[in-house]
Amino acid sequence: MREAQPVFFDPNIQAWHIFRYDDVLRVLSDHATFSSDESSFLPPEYRNATPISSSMLRMDPPRHRKLRNLVSLAFTPRMVAHMESRIQAITNGLLDQVQASGEMDVIRDLAYPLPITVIAEILGVPAERREEFKQWSDASVGGDAESTPEDIQAIMQAMESMKAYFNEVFEERRAHPQNDLVSALLQAEVDGERLSNEELLGFCVLLLVAGNETTTNLIGNTILCLDEHPEAVERLRANRELVPGALEEALRYYSPIKLTIRGTTTETMIGDQRIEAGKLLFAWIASADRDEAQFPDASQFNIEREPNRHLGFGRGVHFCLGAPLARLEAKIALNTMLDRLPGSWHVSDAPLSPIKSSSVFGVKQLPL
Ligand code: HEM
Repeated sequence: MREAQPVFFDPNIQAWHIFRYDDVLRVLSDHATFSSDESSFLPPEYRNATPISSSMLRMDPPRHRKLRNLVSLAFTPRMVAHMESRIQAITNGLLDQVQASGEMDVIRDLAYPLPITVIAEILGVPAERREEFKQWSDASVGGDAESTPEDIQAIMQAMESMKAYFNEVFEERRAHPQNDLVSALLQAEVDGERLSNEELLGFCVLLLVAGNETTTNLIGNTILCLDEHPEAVERLRANRELVPGALEEALRYYSPIKLTIRGTTTETMIGDQRIEAGKLLFAWIASADRDEAQFPDASQFNIEREPNRHLGFGRGVHFCLGAPLARLEAKIALNTMLDRLPGSWHVSDAPLSPIKSSSVFGVKQLPL
C-alpha cells in the first residue's frame, strides 16, 4: 500500500488510511489539522464509547496540555529511574517462579505481570486483582472487524465492572487519601475545577491499559524478534550496551501499537489526495516504521540501526507519556532474562495466536 496507494480511502468505513512515514509523521505532529477529539471524526452515536474517550489521549490543546501536566511529573525519566530497584525486584521474583517451575511462557510469566504490577503500584490499586485488570485492559483494546455481537457484549460488560471498581477506589481514597497517583488526581484542579468522574476514570483506564498491554507486547515482541534472529541474542549476551538499541528496533520492527486515529479539522492535502474536514484517519505506525524511504533495509531486524526515528511511541503533543517507564521495564526484563536464562532461546513451534485487536500487535502466549 505504501507504494500503490499510500493515502487510501475506504468507502466501507468512510475512513482514510495513511501508510507512508512522512505522512504519518505529519498527521501525528500537526494537531491543529489532525485532531484527537472524537467529535472531529466520530458521529455522535459512537462517541464516548469507552472511558479512554474522556482521557487526554482524546483531547486537543489547550485542555490536553493541562491534563497531561497533572500526571507528567509521575513519569519523568528522573522519577522513573527511582523505580529501577523496585522493577528489578519484581522481575527477579517473577523469574524465581519460572526457575522453580522449570517452564516459561514469556507473556504469562513475565511480560504480563511485570508492567501491570508496576502501574498498579503507581496508581495505588492492589496488584492482586491483576486477572480482572487484564480482562478490563483486553476489553479496552479489544474488538475488530470480525467481532461478534457476543464479543461486543463481553467488552461492554468488562467496561461496566471496571467503572464500578474504580468508582469504589475513588470513594475510598476521597475518604482516606494515600500517597499515590489516584489520591493526587482526586485533589488536582484544572482551571480552578476538580476533574470530573469521567476524566478521573479516563486517566486511570488510560494508564492501566497503556501501561500494561503495550509494554507486555514490547517484551513479547522483542522475544519474537530474537527468536527469528538468534544471532542477535549472542551479540546481546556479549555486549549488554546493545540492549537499548535492540528494544528500539523491536519497537520499530514489531510495533506494539499498529495504528492511531485522528480527524481532520479542515480540508487538507496528503500526498496527492484532498481530504475533507471531519474525516476519520488511520495513521498506520506499523507501516510507517517499515517505510524504506525512512529506514534503509526496513524489513531487516538490525539491533544497531542508527538513526532509528521510529514512531512506535507516536510523535507530537501525544508522544507516549510512559516511554521512559516502558523502556526501563523492557530493558530490565531483557537483561534479567539474558542473565538468568543461559543458552539459546527457542519459542515453541506450536502456532502462536495473535491478540484480536485492530490497534495492538502482540501474541497471547509465548512458550519458550
Ligand atoms: C500515548 C505507545 C507504554 C502511557 C501513546 C502513543 C503511542 C504509545 C503510540 C500515542 C498515541 C497517539 O498519538 O494517538 C506506547 C508503547 C508502549 C507504551 C508502544 C510500550 C512499549 C506506555 C506506558 C504508559 C503509557 C508504560 C504509562 C504508564 C501513555 C499515555 C499516552 C500514551 C498516558 C497519552 C499521552 C497523551 O495523550 O498526551 N503511547 N505506549 N504508555 N501513552 Fe504509551
